[in-house]
Amino acid sequence: MAILLPGGAGFIGSHTAVELLNAGKEVVIVDNFSNSKKEVLDKIKKITGKDFKFYELNYLDREKLEKVFEENKIDAVLNFAGYKAVGESVQKPLEYYHNNITGCLILLETMKKYNVKKFIFSSSATVYGEPERIPLTEDCKTGGTTNPYGTSKLFIEQILKDLYKSDNTWDICILRYFNPVGAHESGLIGEEPQGIPNNLMPYVARVAAGTLKELSVFGNDYDTPDGTGVRDYIHVVDLAKGHVCALNKLDKENQGLFIYNLGTGKGYSVLDMVKAFEKATGKKVPYKIAPRREGDIATCYADPKKAKDELGWVATKTLDDMCKDSWNYIIKSSSNKK
Ligand code: UFG
Repeated sequence: MAILLPGGAGFIGSHTAVELLNAGKEVVIVDNFSNSKKEVLDKIKKITGKDFKFYELNYLDREKLEKVFEENKIDAVLNFAGYKAVGESVQKPLEYYHNNITGCLILLETMKKYNVKKFIFSSSATVYGEPERIPLTEDCKTGGTTNPYGTSKLFIEQILKDLYKSDNTWDICILRYFNPVGAHESGLIGEEPQGIPNNLMPYVARVAAGTLKELSVFGNDYDTPDGTGVRDYIHVVDLAKGHVCALNKLDKENQGLFIYNLGTGKGYSVLDMVKAFEKATGKKVPYKIAPRREGDIATCYADPKKAKDELGWVATKTLDDMCKDSWNYIIKSSSNKK
């Protein structure tokens, strides 16, 4: 029985593929490389020493997707095929809703047709909007998202809840990611943002590498210890392992809808991250204070207790690991490009 990963060549998908293969699972990856590269597939094989089936297709292409279900015994689906750039989603709402929501609907309909009912969804802490309280527990109120990317996650969560209500033989796990950063320790796979990065860590790494001049710190007048925004940064390998634990839970439970925060439970400010990065890499990260970025909140971090109690999962990598691994990936990938 195989685990299907639409978007499995992307940042979180590729790291999860590695952890699933390491756990002895059979994996089938589907990707159209809209935000990833073909080489990633060989790198996953190199890291794990294992092979897997791959199909180059857009998961919106129902006919091609059905063929994958016909040719493989799919047991579960982990969907990584969503678009994820917050700013871009404001510019291109229809593209975002179409890819993220229509894509997910086609996937679920295809699963239903082939009687595959185990599904893990990549959601986001963004569904909490302005946090009701900190740390965020899974029962905190959701809603009030400020961009189509976040709203697409919120809508899909609702679709999954409705689906489960209509047929409780589904086995669904919603994982709300906090801020995924870092890269595999091999330096072979990592985050490859197109153009100028929007997210803090890839931006910091490129400033340290000298490809970008300086970091703009978006606001230093928040109600936080140093005035800059506080987030829960989680190493992508920890996050990937969370999916393996979630899959084990679904295998064991056989029916149910579960929601978990995947975060460390610790909040770090923008300036904490700059300092940690400088310390881990020995590189300078010049920065200036800039105005607040629209839609940003002051503080966001998880209470990860539910995932610990029910999945047996905890994030084990440190901030130093996150910085070192991000940097290692930048160095290795830039030397490969030369
Ligand atoms: N920041 C800067 N300068 C930058 C980039 C970011 O100061 O150049 C600050 C932001 O203001 C924020 C923090 O760094 O305080 C983190 O910003 P990111 O863009 O890295 O991450 P966000 O918390 O804004 O967003 C992330 C994901 C989204 C997800 C959201 C959920 O990118 O996909 O977390 O909370 F929806």
